[in-house]
Amino acid sequence: MFKDPIFRDRVAIITGGGTGLGRAFALRFSELGARVVLASRSADHLEPACAEIRGRGGEALAAPTDVRVPEQVENMVRRTLDQYGRLDILINNAAGNFLCPAEKLSYNGWRSVIDIVLNGAFNCTRAALEPMKKQNYGRILNILATYASGASPGTVHSCAAKAGVLAMTRTLAVEWARYNIHVNAVAPGSFPTEGASSRLMLAPGAAERALRRIPVGRVGRHEELANLVAYLCSDYADYINGESVTIDGGVSWNHPSFEWENV
Ligand code: COA
Repeated sequence: MFKDPIFRDRVAIITGGGTGLGRAFALRFSELGARVVLASRSADHLEPACAEIRGRGGEALAAPTDVRVPEQVENMVRRTLDQYGRLDILINNAAGNFLCPAEKLSYNGWRSVIDIVLNGAFNCTRAALEPMKKQNYGRILNILATYASGASPGTVHSCAAKAGVLAMTRTLAVEWARYNIHVNAVAPGSFPTEGASSRLMLAPGAAERALRRIPVGRVGRHEELANLVAYLCSDYADYINGESVTIDGGVSWNHPSFEWENV
């Protein structure tokens, strides 16, 4: 399926595209023929990722953007259109998170994560609408987390924000299907990145204990997630709309009630 350059002539914006998972998506989309626009707050993160893509023969534009600020987001879309003339795919990947039980979370801590994750995703999605509508084509893919449809003790701010993005995914999938704009999501489990590990895996031995709970016995590989995201944004997934696909090695179903392993 991925032998062909399935994204030939496609233009994709990837928020948070300079580092971690966003960078993996950008590299994969570029390999598959897309011209990619990488957006994040820090230009320092964007340039090396763009340089790597260009070094491999791809086309990439660095668009420093704070997704919380609608004017900056509109500018990001304008720059994309100026440079490449169209916008086909938007991946809402930019996120902010930290481990903090709700009783210690400040009002500003809550607001800051809701602003990046939920408001940021809406800002980008809303700004992408007009060009996608004009083209009668658009694929919007939101990066959630498995807890978007559950609970996440220790990160209520991120959990509430991702749940909001999931609700937005389903709602806009219905509203915008008439423009041939599909809106889907992925809900990843454990795909370690430097950013996530340093913010979330703070208790001694937390990563090892989390690993033991994953039924397939390992964490996810970035390319596995990138391939799923690519599939959902491709024409192969044309009949998928308003869906969130979990990719977590089965950990979501592992709620041990009994010590069954050694029976
Ligand atoms: N525990 C508790 N509160 C925290 C915190 C932590 N680890 N980190 C930040 N906060 C609080 C701050 O104290 C502040 O609240 P206050 O004004 O009441 O003190 C509030 O969150 C905003 O922090 P600030 O650093 O000013 O916000 P920012 O907008 O510059 O940064 C964050 C946003 C906090 C989400 C920051 O972690 C970030 O930029 N993250 C981007 C990358 C990321 O998180 N990736 C996710 C990987 S899973």
